[in-house]
Amino acid sequence: MSVLDLGIDLGTANIIISAGRSGAILNEPTVIAFDKNAERVVAFGTEAYKMIGRAPEHIAVIKPLKDGVISNNDMAQELIRLCILKVIGKRLINPRIVMCVPSGITAVERKAVVESAVSAGARTVYLIEEPVAALLGAGEDIMRPFGRMVVDIGGGTSDIAVTSLGGIVAANSVKKAGNAFNASIQRYIEENYRLSIGERTAEDAKITTANVFWPSEEKKMVVSGRSLVTGLPTKIEISEADIAAALTEDIDQIIAAVRTVFEKTPPELVGDIYDHGILLTGGGALLRGLDMYITREFGVKCHVADDPLGCVARGTHLAFKVRDKLRNGFEKARI
Ligand SMILES: Nc1ncnc2c1ncn2[C@@H]1O[C@H](COP(=O)(O)OP(=O)(O)OP(=O)(O)O)[C@@H](O)[C@H]1O
Ligand SMILES: [Mg+2]
Repeated sequence: MSVLDLGIDLGTANIIISAGRSGAILNEPTVIAFDKNAERVVAFGTEAYKMIGRAPEHIAVIKPLKDGVISNNDMAQELIRLCILKVIGKRLINPRIVMCVPSGITAVERKAVVESAVSAGARTVYLIEEPVAALLGAGEDIMRPFGRMVVDIGGGTSDIAVTSLGGIVAANSVKKAGNAFNASIQRYIEENYRLSIGERTAEDAKITTANVFWPSEEKKMVVSGRSLVTGLPTKIEISEADIAAALTEDIDQIIAAVRTVFEKTPPELVGDIYDHGILLTGGGALLRGLDMYITREFGVKCHVADDPLGCVARGTHLAFKVRDKLRNGFEKARI
């Protein structure tokens, strides 16, 4: 039986599996579709994502993670199993797996993650905290006696941490990230334009028409939905300024969470962060203007990692190499 080491970033929005030198070998939305009549899974990943809001009654399109943690055990296990099978094919392998988890998850939530990996055939399971993985994956040297700050904004959680000497010094996690942004956009359009729009339309607006630092009234897009007044299909124009207004409260909550991490960080390390800057990772890092917004709030340069969506996955896999040097935020799970 051959040996295979897999890094799995089981995110609220995306599941990414990395192995070997090639890096990511699977990248799928964290979605699974279950046929309630036939009692079987009919699609997962991208195929299941396409069914969101469009599936017939008997097919449940399920997102098995909520706010960074598993909310549907059976479906999460099934999704991980299918993803691992897709990666290893028919080879007879019991891989060693590093899974990443948001910092500050409960023992029960941790157990669900470990069980899902074991049920998928893992021989050994390690857990790494998301911000540590994000820094490793962005190529930061976190082993030195030097403060590094990362803000990882995913789909479910925003994880903030300061590391030094291979360990977490201060951390915080809030349940405000990409999904909450979408919900806020939907709510804003409902309240201000009396139009009900779907989640995917909100996601589209966030990606194409957001600028939270310097929003323009001129940059517009057309969104369609159902009018709350007439009940009929309607199209309206919204601008960057609308999206920025919709997201202000969420972003301010993330800023407040970063502030508490600064407050918990010893002054020498705060000085290091001042010199080195704040690293922004996760899909939310791509929200236009967010880096400049954070820079302005703290007077510390904030920069977006190269490939922010892939950092945690890359770091999760890289953790195998440096696992002896990681002081905390990394552990072997008992199974
Ligand atoms: N260009 C973009 N602008 C704004 N947001 C984006 C952009 N591209 C992706 N996103 C958002 O990034 C989020 C997904 O990021 P990521 O894959 O890092 O999350 P995750 O790891 O699955 O979630 P979590 O870590 O919270 O469990 C989604 O909410 C998506 O809408
Ligand atoms: Mg993530």
